[in-house]
Amino acid sequence: MCGIVGYVGSREATPILLEGLKRLEYRGYDSAGIALLNGKNVSVVKQPGKVRELEKAIKVSPISATCGIAHTRWATHGSPNLPNAHPQMSTDGTIALVHNGIIENADALRVQLQKEGYLFVSETDTEVVVKLIDLLWMEDTLLEEAVAAALRQVEGAYGIAVVSSRDSNKIVAAQNGSPLLIGVGQEGEVLCGSNAAAVISLTREVVYLDDGDYAVLEPSGFRTYHLSGTEVARSVYQVTWDLESVEKGGYEHFMLKEIFEQPETLRNVMRGRLLEEEGDVRLGGIRDHAKELAEVRRIVMTACGTSWHAGLVGEYMLEEFARIPVNVEYASEFRYRHPVLEEGTLNLAISQSGETADTLAALKEAKQAGSDTMGVVNTVGSTIARHTDFGIYLHAGPEIGVASTKAFTSQLVALTLFTLYMGRRRQMSVLQGREVVAALQELPDLVEEVLQLNDEIRDLAQHFKDARNFLYLGRGYQFPVALEGALKLKEVSYIHAEGYPAAEMKHGPIALIDDDMPVVFLAPRDSVYTKVVSNIEEVKARQGRIIAVVSDNAPELKGKVDHMIRVPHTIPSLLSVLTTVPLQLLAYHMAVIRGANVDQPRNLAKSVTVE
Ligand code: AGP
Ligand code: GLU
Repeated sequence: MCGIVGYVGSREATPILLEGLKRLEYRGYDSAGIALLNGKNVSVVKQPGKVRELEKAIKVSPISATCGIAHTRWATHGSPNLPNAHPQMSTDGTIALVHNGIIENADALRVQLQKEGYLFVSETDTEVVVKLIDLLWMEDTLLEEAVAAALRQVEGAYGIAVVSSRDSNKIVAAQNGSPLLIGVGQEGEVLCGSNAAAVISLTREVVYLDDGDYAVLEPSGFRTYHLSGTEVARSVYQVTWDLESVEKGGYEHFMLKEIFEQPETLRNVMRGRLLEEEGDVRLGGIRDHAKELAEVRRIVMTACGTSWHAGLVGEYMLEEFARIPVNVEYASEFRYRHPVLEEGTLNLAISQSGETADTLAALKEAKQAGSDTMGVVNTVGSTIARHTDFGIYLHAGPEIGVASTKAFTSQLVALTLFTLYMGRRRQMSVLQGREVVAALQELPDLVEEVLQLNDEIRDLAQHFKDARNFLYLGRGYQFPVALEGALKLKEVSYIHAEGYPAAEMKHGPIALIDDDMPVVFLAPRDSVYTKVVSNIEEVKARQGRIIAVVSDNAPELKGKVDHMIRVPHTIPSLLSVLTTVPLQLLAYHMAVIRGANVDQPRNLAKSVTVE
């Protein structure tokens, strides 16, 4: 999610806050805002677009203040427009709040607050928190007491900073699932920020809050508490990283940072959406379209690149569990081939950026044909998101690396959620639903386990750094993973790689096999495992060098493969998430070893907005 900066001290707050926001711009965002405490009121300036737009707006009527908070927003609830930008305010304008994260019970809190007479001016989940603080702030109590009372009712991920003219010259900061730290400034000043980059221009002494902590920041210093009400001691750390490393969270590249973010991004795509007892899901973005979805007789998915690979996994899931015919089309082909889109066809556009020209053009083609349209998109308020009738957001946060990693696995989970929605309204049983929900709930922890293989995979990459070609082979749910693994490798390491259905080997590609052709087999123990073992034997017999990704000890492969990467087991459709992660790491390390530009590979753009 995005960026927060706070300052309280003796200096002018505005330049310090703007400098902090600029240090957070790399994270990607869609709007920015600032709240300043000057004497007896809160002044707020906010703008859609870049920090420089905010800076221009502030210059129009500069505000002198020594306490304030600022925010860059990565929208999750509500388009990137002025009302949805932060700070969000109490109705009387005396409290301003900025937030990173997702409030899971925002809908329920909004209803409760509306019953108390509160009117809402934004579509954000954030606004319920500042209104709740206002509701719970009792006479003659402190801001931090009201904030703590409100946060005890909030469910979900947050990093927040709050100021109020009712208890001025103070910032209350809090964290739960979305990082927020305190910057220990020089004598008489204290800062807060989403990460050290936000405060590093003034201090390298930081205090990391724990989940459930809140802190009171005043010119005299800071105090940290836990929501349970007890004061807690938190250590001061010295930031030794340079700024660039801070921006990448200490990782060498954004791609590696985003690979390691996947347990959290998978928690975010599921946050508040799983109905364990019912074996079902709650999807706010489609809940008002049950009628259209009940009438769907075919789904045509349109996408490009990695998103197209995600669509293939979605096709297998929807046909297996919801028994709905699915076609997955390259958007660039679909738009020119005069497709037949009969009554009851749903066009499902999959796009991380929501700006891919071919996918948008295909969407418009489907709309012209009268199809209902749905999006699976990461970027809230993006063009594709705005042009579809309804959809599911990934909540994966900004993906900076050109090679898509966390967005892909979040797309797989989002498509699983959609499959549950459609399947459970057709013939998928509650028991089947509960099995998928349970597998989803444990998935982030299983990805954590796979990430422990990083060093092993880095060493493995050394063996193949001079390879000129690679084959990736899989069957069933693992065939799209083979395609994705090949794309990752060629994208970032510039090694030619092809993905194939494993059974296709004998129809030509097996002619390529020799000891100079590394072959990656996706061979988890699923319904086609024994068939894949046979394919491995065919390749071994021709001196192929084999890397097998397995989900147990795979005794059948003993002596038949050169390297084995073992991931944990789960249900077949979600094995696609677990077998993808090692391939992301393999591609990453091959690229690093070969000195490629990992985050901005040659000739590539993060969002292909041209045809
Ligand atoms: C994936 O690693 C590539 N960056 C590329 O194939 C990408 O998936 C494709 O351009 C589609 O982008 P989108 O998901 O933003 O529409
Ligand atoms: N969920 C909040 C919103 O959509 C905060 C998003 C963020 O983390 O920037 O406004």
